Amino acid sequence: MFHIKTFNAIAPEGMARFEDENYTIDQDQAAHGIILRSEKLHGYDFPESVLAVARAGAGTNNIPVEELTKAGVVVFNTPGANANAVKELVVASLLLSVRPILQGANWVQSLEGDNLEEVAEANKKQFAGNELEGKRLGVIGLGAIGAMIANDAYRLGMEVMGYDPYVSVDTAWTISRRVKRAQQIEEIFTTCDFITVHVPLTEATRGLIGEKEIALMKPTTRLFNFSRGEIVDTDAVLKAINADELGGFTTDFADSKLLHNPKILVLPHLGASTEEAEINCAKMAARTLKRFLETGVIKRS
Ligand code: MLT
Repeated sequence: MFHIKTFNAIAPEGMARFEDENYTIDQDQAAHGIILRSEKLHGYDFPESVLAVARAGAGTNNIPVEELTKAGVVVFNTPGANANAVKELVVASLLLSVRPILQGANWVQSLEGDNLEEVAEANKKQFAGNELEGKRLGVIGLGAIGAMIANDAYRLGMEVMGYDPYVSVDTAWTISRRVKRAQQIEEIFTTCDFITVHVPLTEATRGLIGEKEIALMKPTTRLFNFSRGEIVDTDAVLKAINADELGGFTTDFADSKLLHNPKILVLPHLGASTEEAEINCAKMAARTLKRFLETGVIKRS
């Protein structure tokens, strides 16, 4: 019999995997497996009974991975399970960055009177935008998410350049041959109109994009961060934007100093927030945890 502990429950489709006689979902018993979403477990007093922790999500920075690994506890995540959700939001954000869709929609809502169509027609010029087609997108990190974005951006008619020194053979096969691979990351910084970052947060990637890197970018380049907030130095971004040395910034990580700036779009960590992604992650985390507890095999599926 295995005892499973959850924090804020993951999607029920995942928990359903533990509905068999070998499992109890019990918050108080000494757990063998912990399954969780985004709760921060640093400082949590893990009982000695814990064999594995499964995170329904990609990033593991809410879990003391090193400490657990040293203690022989296996930590799983669910890479790829929410990649489509993040990809769709990044593509939407790319489009939002060239077409003032939100501004136009908000403006229409503010209008009053019977002749709305006429007023809208007469004023629409202020909401004219640009097109993505023919512009160059740089994708830093060609894992599950980066590879999908690279392919979709290519299908949108963008010229796509990817950079990843560690790209896996499997992923390499999924990327269109038309996505150019940069040999040096600097090539992305110096030549791209849009740059999007998709790397995990590690000591090597913390502050990956800072003052030095931004200085290499064109003053019109727009930067996107849907990885982790700490990967981009937001002070450097703000400084460059205020000096007209960077075209704009879209981030999925709320930071008060970035608010109320027309060149910056801040989202509240919505990347993986779709019903489908929640279910995919929950199912993958539960499957992986269950397999490990029952067989000792560490394998994602
Ligand atoms: C992830 O790590 O899976 C995403 O950032 C989504 C999340 O943590 O909510």
